[in-house]
Amino acid sequence: MGKRSMPETSEPSGPHAPVLLDEVIAALSPLDGKRVVDGTFGAGGYSRALLQAGAIVIAIDRDPTVKPYADALLAEFQDRFIFVPGTFSALDTLAAEHGPIDGVVLDIGVSSMQLDEADRGFSFMRDGPLDMRMSGQGESAADLVNTLDVEPLANLLYAFGEERKSRRIAQFIVAARETGPIETTLQLARIIEKSIGRKPGDAHPATRSFQALRIAVNGEFDQLVNGLFAAERLLAKDGKLAVVTFHSLEDRIVKRFFDPDKGGPTQSRYMPEVESEPRRWVSVTKAIKAGEAELGRNPRARSATLRAGTRSPIPARPVALDGLGVPVIRGAE
Ligand SMILES: C[S@@+](CC[C@H](N)C(=O)[O-])C[C@H]1O[C@@H](n2cnc3c(N)ncnc32)[C@H](O)[C@@H]1O
Repeated sequence: MGKRSMPETSEPSGPHAPVLLDEVIAALSPLDGKRVVDGTFGAGGYSRALLQAGAIVIAIDRDPTVKPYADALLAEFQDRFIFVPGTFSALDTLAAEHGPIDGVVLDIGVSSMQLDEADRGFSFMRDGPLDMRMSGQGESAADLVNTLDVEPLANLLYAFGEERKSRRIAQFIVAARETGPIETTLQLARIIEKSIGRKPGDAHPATRSFQALRIAVNGEFDQLVNGLFAAERLLAKDGKLAVVTFHSLEDRIVKRFFDPDKGGPTQSRYMPEVESEPRRWVSVTKAIKAGEAELGRNPRARSATLRAGTRSPIPARPVALDGLGVPVIRGAE
């Protein structure tokens, strides 16, 4: 995979600094009078810039703690801003009554507020309850590490975190449970460090495992795939979709979604020619990364990748995982 998706910085907590903002706005432009769905509202950095560019914004977030940021934009922009709590996997349904929609933006992953708030349990740098639930509902990371057996836990860490030492980590976790449940982030981080050691200069040994647990707790691949297809259904010809991801497993899904030929079988001159599907997305960009200036201001932007495309008139596809390269937990197929 690319670099880490869970940066281990000691930056001060505070509202999220929007990543690749100018590039996202450029990808969705022109914006004056257009209706745009911001599927990952966070602290509202993208929404604010979209509103300032003259758009009407329908913002979605599954985290109820973003409400004060939404209230602030509502007070400032009034009827040009609508906030809808929910998950972006259902963005077409959530935005249906506010349509027709001209653009969708998704900024996948955790916000700085979620990462920096110890009580949310996302960070192995801050001691807090082992939670990681963006919505505050459903199974927590503690539920997973305290109930899964070695085999399914190792498979999860391997599939969602690309953790090659997943089995050893899972064995240490299950053994540690014998003396009592694992309840805090630092408790888990220490168990992982004990299991696979720590080399100076390397990323924290818990990086990949925390990423895997966070993805599992929040069903992030399922959300991403369904969100992409929901945007495809929602947007008519010329509608624009911009997606920012933070690690290579997500970026691969977005890349193949925009260009299904990237995930298909390689054409061979010995095989009958495979017909390409008609394109749902045109003017698809290459991977766009943060420039030096942004990286200087915001080191968290270093693993961000933006991809964008414009909707063709071809009707939307049914949701299908084939060819998207979605990681699957072994034994759970
Ligand atoms: C990286 S932050 C977005 C930051 C935002 N672009 C800004 O400028 O402030 C991601 C946000 O998306 C939310 N989120 C993540 N997955 C979601 C999902 N499946 N549905 C709705 N919101 C989601 C998180 O709760 C978080 O607030």
